[in-house]
Amino acid sequence: MFLLVLAIAVGSILLTVVGLLIYARWNYGTLEALNIPVVDRSFFLGSTPELHKKVQHLEDIERFNKYGPIYGVYEGRTPHIHVCDPELIRLIFVKDSDHFRNRREVELGDPIVNEMLDFLPYAKWKVLRQMQTPSLTASKLKIMSTRVNESAAEFVSYMGNKLEGSNGRAKFNTREVFVPLAIDIICRGLIGIPVHNPFDYSNEVCQSLETISAEGQDSSILYTLSFSFPFLSALAPTLAPDNIHYFANMFRKLIKVRSEDSIKNNDFMDKIVDMMHKLPTDEFKKLNVSEATVIAQALGPLMAGYDAIAAVSVFLSYYAARDPQVQQRITQEVDDHFEKYGEFRHENLGELAYLHACVKETLRLVPSFIRPERICTKDWEYNGLRIPAGVVVMIPAWGANRNPEYFPDPEKFDPERFMDEQSTGLSQYAFSTFGHGPRNCIGLKFAYDALKLSLCHVFRKFQFELRPDTEVKYKTGVLFLMQYYPILLDVVRRET
Ligand code: HEM
Repeated sequence: MFLLVLAIAVGSILLTVVGLLIYARWNYGTLEALNIPVVDRSFFLGSTPELHKKVQHLEDIERFNKYGPIYGVYEGRTPHIHVCDPELIRLIFVKDSDHFRNRREVELGDPIVNEMLDFLPYAKWKVLRQMQTPSLTASKLKIMSTRVNESAAEFVSYMGNKLEGSNGRAKFNTREVFVPLAIDIICRGLIGIPVHNPFDYSNEVCQSLETISAEGQDSSILYTLSFSFPFLSALAPTLAPDNIHYFANMFRKLIKVRSEDSIKNNDFMDKIVDMMHKLPTDEFKKLNVSEATVIAQALGPLMAGYDAIAAVSVFLSYYAARDPQVQQRITQEVDDHFEKYGEFRHENLGELAYLHACVKETLRLVPSFIRPERICTKDWEYNGLRIPAGVVVMIPAWGANRNPEYFPDPEKFDPERFMDEQSTGLSQYAFSTFGHGPRNCIGLKFAYDALKLSLCHVFRKFQFELRPDTEVKYKTGVLFLMQYYPILLDVVRRET
């Protein structure tokens, strides 16, 4: 009897293991059939058996160098195609975007986060995107830039006070300096909400966002396994949505006040209020646009923008500290500009060619969203390359932005590349930091404006210096938004 029970138990375990292995390997062969190079795959963990231990965007650079401009990757059990070739990127993300309309549907563990624009299916996305676009036009940005300017001016005065008493020089974790600034810029500029104690990294808004985006969480083997066995993903969440209700309440109150008092603030939030009023319409009901969907659109700019904007300031201050000539040229340009106008204004930003080039070169080298993606919704074919419906196409931006054909000596921080973009003939599809096509970054122009305005204030008042303990180290296993360990720099007050 005992032997029979034992045999049944062992048999069941074996069957389960075999079943799981078949499941994990089910899609193997899909990419090979497309006649593209495929990153070596392991027995049952796809091409990414050590996903949690490897820095994904650095892997992308190695893969681009090894496999060329198009190759396949099994992310666990799921086949992905990575494209770095600018012409293919143009065809897939722009010209034939009706074959590649959506991103993957991702279950992020919260009904509000799941409704963010990034993850919405085409029909719902189209209506909501069209409603949001007019709130980010040049004329609206000009109005919002006044508030961005105020934020940046207060920020430099806050930092100046911090340097009082330390002979005008102190060590900072640059992320903890620039994250609160980015959050305040978005809250004031786009949303129209004040942040209490705005430039202190421990403030409530900042800490709530950091918790939601799971900053500080390291990935484990469970994370790697969850790509082959998705039922494990509940044990290895990518986001920690506990603090969403904090923002949901904040936005509900703001929408109520603005609705009751018929306030128009000429910002992004105006559109959110309009959306809330449209909830009872047939159009919204048919698309299943709910209160959660509208709150998610309000949360979008913060979630999509704060870390990416902060990263540019962090890495540009690092590059400036590393290369005194770059820093000298930025400060010279900013000082000359200030002497000419006596202030920094949105409408004069176009004159700051070198600062613009430095921001763009930082964005090229350090794209925060590491893999803009689309899912193929209709079979597609071009020049013998076939992409079947259901396959995910990604731009590994760290690899694609380092294509030596367009960016010679690609690892070099060289703003000169962007000083005269027209005449150097750079393909716009060789630079993928903001994605491309109808689903590209909606906040692109705001991000450039906010960065340039705030960096004018910063470089006018401070300079950055490397320290013996300055190092750049990225977190492993991160698939969406690049994460990095503290980059320590000395911030030194300038005598201006
Ligand atoms: C330096 C800062 C930023 C970077 C590098 C960045 C990058 C990106 C990228 C790569 C995408 C995906 C594009 C694609 O798939 O083609 C995206 C989408 C998006 N971004 Fe940004 N972003 C930044 C700032 C912002 C800001 C400030 C906002 C606020 C309005 C924002 C809102 C969004 C939204 C809502 C989407 C989803 C768009 C859609 O699906 O239609 N981003 N961003």
